[in-house]
Amino acid sequence: MYTEQGDPCKVLKLINSDIQSPQEGEVLVSMMAAPINPADINMIQGVYPVRPPLPAVAGNEGVGKVIAIGSGVQRLKTGDWVVPGHSGWGTWRTRALASESELIRVPSDVSMATLATMAVTTCTAFRMLKDFASLKEGDVVMQNGGNSGVGKALIQLAKHSGLQTVNVVRDRPDLDQLVTDLKSLGATHVISDAFLRSRDMKEFMKGLPAPKLACNCVGGKATADLLKYLADQGTMVTYGGMSKQPLFIPAGPLIFKDVNLRGFWMTKWNSIRSQEERQAMWDELCDLTRKGVLEAPKHRLVPLQNFEEAISKSMDSFTNEKQILSMGD
Ligand SMILES: NC(=O)c1ccc[n+]([C@@H]2O[C@H](COP(=O)([O-])OP(=O)(O)OC[C@H]3O[C@@H](n4cnc5c(N)ncnc54)[C@H](OP(=O)(O)O)[C@@H]3O)[C@@H](O)[C@H]2O)c1
Repeated sequence: MYTEQGDPCKVLKLINSDIQSPQEGEVLVSMMAAPINPADINMIQGVYPVRPPLPAVAGNEGVGKVIAIGSGVQRLKTGDWVVPGHSGWGTWRTRALASESELIRVPSDVSMATLATMAVTTCTAFRMLKDFASLKEGDVVMQNGGNSGVGKALIQLAKHSGLQTVNVVRDRPDLDQLVTDLKSLGATHVISDAFLRSRDMKEFMKGLPAPKLACNCVGGKATADLLKYLADQGTMVTYGGMSKQPLFIPAGPLIFKDVNLRGFWMTKWNSIRSQEERQAMWDELCDLTRKGVLEAPKHRLVPLQNFEEAISKSMDSFTNEKQILSMGD
């Protein structure tokens, strides 16, 4: 929990508190696993649009199991696996009392790590591919942050739809290994940001149809790099700002290509869509997971009591793995 916003390593404390039995319409959830995402860190720092009332339990996505139900609960039963249906729910804990309506039931035959990372990471990639461009087999989608959790989900979903992906990642000493990892997920092309800005890039892109969709989670100059190659009337969706820099938008692509600049926030989508629509998305994604289309991002399971180490690792650059808090029994 945190009682004030600030540096997560300083303000987060592990608290033991009693929890009541579920009352009417409530269920008791035993959390199993919850990842540490950039948005969780931003929320604790107080620089995210969602600011739960304090004191607050941190964590936005994760999966748990219903272990007791109160009277009048109709949709859920003991043993069901569930995920929270909205942001700021507080997933980094062992037990939670929740009203039935706050939770989405998920199947228990899908891996825990996949489910734990689906609400924020996979759903975002899924919506961006579905809602912003009319894409057909062979079309190209370009993205930066290609090795982010969202980026990896997008690679797999795009591959499944017969789309080609051009994935930009930051240059690093073990770039070859990262390229191999992303290609094994289904990436068509993986390029470093250094290559993107090199003279060879133009020639490379000539061999591909111009991307109809670009997904941007970096911001700053990286935005202009994507816009340069976007198709006429193509769409760039900004969903993150990892560089903490304002978007750099040259006039050329707007004037000469009439590109569309859009933004996406999964939290907003969830807040305006019906329970049925959200459940349908989850059913489709769980089905794709069962079919082997989607796998969890490379991750490290860390016991909840070691949260400080996991948080600090999650803020390191070039780690290429999600830190997932594991709640044990
Ligand atoms: N709008 C939404 O609804 C929504 C939903 C989910 C996520 N997001 C946002 O999407 C972004 C990715 O989230 P995630 O959970 O997928 O993250 P993640 O798995 O933790 O990955 C973070 C990514 O950001 C890159 N990165 C970190 N610092 C950077 C910098 N200064 N410049 C360029 N790249 C940098 C990392 O690359 P390296 O390996 O090179 O460090 C990595 O690819 C975050 O900004 C997050 O807030 C938004």
